[in-house]
Amino acid sequence: MKISVVGLGFVGLSLASVLASTNYTVVGIDKDKKKCNEIRSGRVPVYEPDLEKTLKIALKKSLKISDDFSSITDSDMIFVTVGTPQKTNGEIDLSMIKNATRSIGKIIRKSNKNQIILIKSTVIPGTTENIIIPILEKESGKKVNKEFGVISNPEFLQESNAIRDTKYPHAIILGGKDTRYMKKVKLFFSKMHSGVSIIVTKYQTAEMIKYANNSFLATKISFINQLSNICQNIPNADVDDVASAIGLDPRIGKMFLSAGPGYGGSCLPKDMNALINFGGSVGANTSFLKAVKKTNDEQINNIISLMREKLGDLSGKKITILGTAFKPNTDDIRDSKSIELIKKLLKNKARISVYDPKALKNTKDVFGNKIIYSKSLISSLDKSYGLIIMTQWKQFESINNKLLQRMKNRLIVDSRRMLAKKELNGEYYAIGIGKEE
Ligand code: UGA
Repeated sequence: MKISVVGLGFVGLSLASVLASTNYTVVGIDKDKKKCNEIRSGRVPVYEPDLEKTLKIALKKSLKISDDFSSITDSDMIFVTVGTPQKTNGEIDLSMIKNATRSIGKIIRKSNKNQIILIKSTVIPGTTENIIIPILEKESGKKVNKEFGVISNPEFLQESNAIRDTKYPHAIILGGKDTRYMKKVKLFFSKMHSGVSIIVTKYQTAEMIKYANNSFLATKISFINQLSNICQNIPNADVDDVASAIGLDPRIGKMFLSAGPGYGGSCLPKDMNALINFGGSVGANTSFLKAVKKTNDEQINNIISLMREKLGDLSGKKITILGTAFKPNTDDIRDSKSIELIKKLLKNKARISVYDPKALKNTKDVFGNKIIYSKSLISSLDKSYGLIIMTQWKQFESINNKLLQRMKNRLIVDSRRMLAKKELNGEYYAIGIGKEE
């Protein structure tokens, strides 16, 4: 079986690499020539643990990389994994998926393979049936579910765990009509992920499942963040103990209950906005989702208020930010809470020094010479008036009293409670921990 993957971001490149390393013949397509060259030479354009290793194995086996859509002509299955970023008004931008679909439609016209197109990109309910299928039918001159198949197949992988999640998904969702194409795809996934539940449903439901998943995760985070703010005002209370205890209740579950500066990244914030927008457009009340989003937006303001309360006027004062990636083990800073915090601190005229083990280059692209980029955790602390830990990179656990001596004023704000168990000589505030009495 020959498989194509269109769009080589985190999702597409992981999928193409995993499929090819498990002996499928795979073509990965991306319109970015430079990116294709880099990938072809075995380099991954982003930092993602295990991806480069898997890519190298895949390239040695069958994986071919191309910027030319005609390479997918003889594919049996075509996965669409292009990005669906958000527009400034919060709606999703479908231009990339429309372009990819047009190109695929033209290929289907020439092919006699009865190809199956699987939509992995996150799209609002109705997009596959109302936008993608009509484009494919128009460009190919063929009929869906007769001469070619289309299946919605949302993706649940997490950045920094992309390979693990691609190999071991918690479920497979297949949206579409009950046709021979659906049967073929079901068989493919049951072989590839034996024992994993396969849910077959309608296009719109499959698309909705993706939003339900991400908005539920966002809800858990906002819930624990609001609780963390309450705990912080109760002497001796600790949000992590609260989270571990309630997490033991199987109805609640222990994951995604880690309080912090709010959820960031290229998915949860975008998908919350899209769902709120979409819900409104179909006449539904989205007040709950809006509250989840508002709670998330407020979390950074709490940190700013604390800094102002403790340091007074921030202008000219050097503040150290540890971590700009939206989470550890990635260099991705898209919609990172840390970037938002830096922007707000700059508005307060603070001088910012940042350190991140992997994301400094991307951070430089945003701030240029407006902030100081430290080569090490140690030097980032020099003469600082305050330290804020934003991303839970393992190495930040090494912070101790000796390192803190480099600071001018030892104010430590720990949004991830990484140093909570240490006896630090300084004024230490952790999100979600009430002061000891
Ligand atoms: C998220 C989902 O977790 C994936 O299932 C989904 O496939 C993906 O979006 C997507 O739609 O493509 P990802 O964006 O990689 O994955 O990041 P997460 O691991 O979900 O983290 C998102 C944010 O929530 C981060 O800023 C993280 O620090 C924060 N978070 C997460 C918390 O503050 N507390 C937690 O307990 C968990």
